[in-house]
Amino acid sequence: MFKKLSERSLLELTDEEFKKFSDLIYQLSGIYLKDSKITLLSNRLRQRINERNFGSFAEYYDYIRKGEDQGEINQMLNAVSTNETYFFRSEKHFEALTEKIMPELLKKINRPIRIWCAGCSSGEEPYTVAMIMNEKNWLSHRLVEIYGSDMNTDVLDEAKKGLYDVKRLRATPDYYKDKYFKKYDQDTYKFDEQIAGYVKFFRQNLLTDSFDDLYDVIFCRNVMIYFDKPVQQKIVSKFYDAMTPGGYLMIGHSESLYFIETKFVYEKIMDAPVYHKDDSVIRKV
Ligand SMILES: C[S@@+](CC[C@H](N)C(=O)[O-])C[C@H]1O[C@@H](n2cnc3c(N)ncnc32)[C@H](O)[C@@H]1O
Repeated sequence: MFKKLSERSLLELTDEEFKKFSDLIYQLSGIYLKDSKITLLSNRLRQRINERNFGSFAEYYDYIRKGEDQGEINQMLNAVSTNETYFFRSEKHFEALTEKIMPELLKKINRPIRIWCAGCSSGEEPYTVAMIMNEKNWLSHRLVEIYGSDMNTDVLDEAKKGLYDVKRLRATPDYYKDKYFKKYDQDTYKFDEQIAGYVKFFRQNLLTDSFDDLYDVIFCRNVMIYFDKPVQQKIVSKFYDAMTPGGYLMIGHSESLYFIETKFVYEKIMDAPVYHKDDSVIRKV
């Protein structure tokens, strides 16, 4: 017999349950959970179980496994993703984008440059791109289009609200803080609504959804660290196919495509590590 909710909520997943959930999460999202994440996963799933009044981890697993309730599957994925981010994170990429990459692309391409932040969490990354594009007047002249996607619907809702704890502005230069944010309450800032309106958000699972559009610049920073090599390989190939020739991929500073078979060519632009879509080279491990 299952224990009462109050007693049960103190329990952790068993090793076997952890294995079943982590396999399922891997299949659904590519997120690879090491065994050491058992307490974290127990805590996060327990919230869902309590909220939806399931009798046990096993009952919740069977329900998700059936695949009939996409809403609850999304909620489970929301609960397991890690969404840490902040404005102007790793600013070298933004400098390279404004000073070198955009001028080069604007010379070559006779339409708005399409920039996609894949795995953008609550929007700080695409909004940073929007601010720096605005400083060059590229937004108002419609020379750039900015997109942000994530599989987590909660963080996308936060992005659309545009309300940020002051901690998320810790790397934001005062000039941008004064120009693009209004104090909302003690510890919260509201991002400029007009500039926010230039960013289009959409839900997308990088592993399971197809990439139907083409982009000139793709940011996918601090996302790949949650995936193992086969999943990274698959997603990087999808990025390659979704990129216009001559485009650029930016991944996080602690990430690398070194062990991935890819046609992207590694380059440093103004000290920022970037991957260039250049058809002439295929590097193999
Ligand atoms: C740590 S945040 C990175 C945010 C931002 N790119 C940055 O560098 O600050 C990682 C994001 O990747 C998202 N993510 C993880 N797996 C995903 C998947 N399979 N498809 C789409 N997004 C995913 C998570 O929901 C999370 O918001």
